[in-house]
Amino acid sequence: MCGIIGYTGSDPAVPILLDGLKKLEYRGYDSAGIAVQTADGLHMVKATGKVEKLAEKLEQATDMEGICGIGHTRWATHGSPSDVNAHPHMSADGRFAIVHNGIIENYLEIKTELEEKGIVFASETDTEVIVQLLAYYYEGDVRKSLMRTIRRLEGSYALAVLCADEPGTVFAARMSSPLIIGVGAGENFFASDITALIRHTKDVIDLDDGETAEIRTDSVRIFDPYGNPVSREPRHILWDIAAAEKGGYDHFMMKEIMEQPQALQATLEPRIKDGRIVLDSVDLDMKQFDRIMITACGSAYHAGCVGRLVLETLCRLPVETELASEFRYRDLVLNERTLVIVVSQSGETADTIAALRKAKEDGAATLAIVNVVGSTIAKIADHVIYTWAGPEIAVATTKGYVTQLAVLDLFAVWAADQLGRLDHKTYSQLVKGLKALPAKAQRALDLSARVGRLAKLYHDRKSLFFIGRNLDHAVAMEGSLKLKEISYLHSEAYAAGELKHGTIALIEPGRLVVALCCCERLYEKTASNIQQVKARGATVLAVAPESNHQIYGEADHVLRVPGVHPLFFPVVEIIPLQLLAYWVARENGCDIDKPKNLAKSVTVE
Ligand code: F6R
Repeated sequence: MCGIIGYTGSDPAVPILLDGLKKLEYRGYDSAGIAVQTADGLHMVKATGKVEKLAEKLEQATDMEGICGIGHTRWATHGSPSDVNAHPHMSADGRFAIVHNGIIENYLEIKTELEEKGIVFASETDTEVIVQLLAYYYEGDVRKSLMRTIRRLEGSYALAVLCADEPGTVFAARMSSPLIIGVGAGENFFASDITALIRHTKDVIDLDDGETAEIRTDSVRIFDPYGNPVSREPRHILWDIAAAEKGGYDHFMMKEIMEQPQALQATLEPRIKDGRIVLDSVDLDMKQFDRIMITACGSAYHAGCVGRLVLETLCRLPVETELASEFRYRDLVLNERTLVIVVSQSGETADTIAALRKAKEDGAATLAIVNVVGSTIAKIADHVIYTWAGPEIAVATTKGYVTQLAVLDLFAVWAADQLGRLDHKTYSQLVKGLKALPAKAQRALDLSARVGRLAKLYHDRKSLFFIGRNLDHAVAMEGSLKLKEISYLHSEAYAAGELKHGTIALIEPGRLVVALCCCERLYEKTASNIQQVKARGATVLAVAPESNHQIYGEADHVLRVPGVHPLFFPVVEIIPLQLLAYWVARENGCDIDKPKNLAKSVTVE
């Protein structure tokens, strides 16, 4: 969703800001804009649509030559996507310009109050109340006015402010929405996301909730919610610039699918030492829990569904999953004997943050599985295990998801061992199985060309089914979501045994059914479901382990994945399904990295 970029230094700001906005495009947006400080005050240019449209408008502009500025990509929440609703927003007196990510929940109340004082609003946005308040409270000290303003705000914000009276300075504030300051030499940056900064600097300072900052060319000053200075050293980002570029692939999604073996290696290897799983960041005594609850959204939820099955098998504890968007609306029974695991690639998903907060309020212990270091979820949770997937740019998650599986698997083995549930031999087999995953994933990627050919045959199907049992069902949900989100084909995931309870009515000649058959102990059961759909004319594409030869007698097409430990099949089984979604979307000419209506990081409820 919305993205922020800012710059103060000695180079022209517009090209730097435009480049940053392009790097933020993957988050999803519908309009964009830039404001700069110039010798004669603040100027801005905004455009509905793509950043290229903004770039065209900027080429015509003659008053945008500044060396300090702010930029924004907006994903409309309050008011339609339009030039006037796009950020930056300027105060009625032209003294302040701001960009904002987040939602101001009490904006109507503030707007009414300011309108009664005669202030005229230009846009329909919640954001505009912030800039009008800043101007209203301003008595010559921007920081004071900013502090007063944010005290009035309810909701979430990452905020960057330019004031015509403070050349070369950008003011920033944060509450529940990420904002990172990039420290350069004689120049400083800030952004909502590391990918927009990484070309310029790898040294970043995270702003925490309630803090404000004053960013100048040669200094960064941070203040706590009471206005006291805070001293914070920059942290060094390990991500490489190449990780945020396409590197010769046509799409980020394909690049990220292909990076999965390396991402798995980076996630697994440091945690397996001398045949033992070592989770340095987790200081939990599993014996204190009588229940585990996993919560997340979208693909991260699907990873949680896999995790549930693996955890309950290995730990012999009750494990439940709940969508993070539903979590806080249930009357859940949580207490200090519950371990709540939240899973999130971005660490910024609003529903997952709300679920995590609720779990903490109710006294549960919390463990986050997160990809983005320093993200909100990583900060709030009691314990964090990072997935080391590197930056994920394509909206549809791939390497983020498989590394979540890897961490859940690691954690399940670690926890089961702590609980004394594993004998030496079983433990060693599991660890061996985990270590093998990167190489097995590499082999599964060899299916790409074959899946590409199948996509040519089936890309025009209007509706598909994914079926499977147990772990296969959890993977079916993710396979179906991948296909829906990037190819816009309707598909549904079904527990294979459920079909006959109603959905089989939709099976007709020519219907494509993707049957997941990696759960070997249940193969015969799934095979009978395959026969049921074949009897009704369906075409069956099966994903099965290389060792399964029977499947050739059942399915029309078979994608064979390398054998792995039975509990870890989802890691390799998802790969042909990601490839299927990719190649079908490509056949259908879809915008693979930026599917319609979707945003990478869903920061609203
Ligand atoms: C699907 C996808 C989404 C995310 C979901 C949660 O490809 O990417 O379903 O998995 O929005 O996002 P995170 O993991 O960032 O919390």
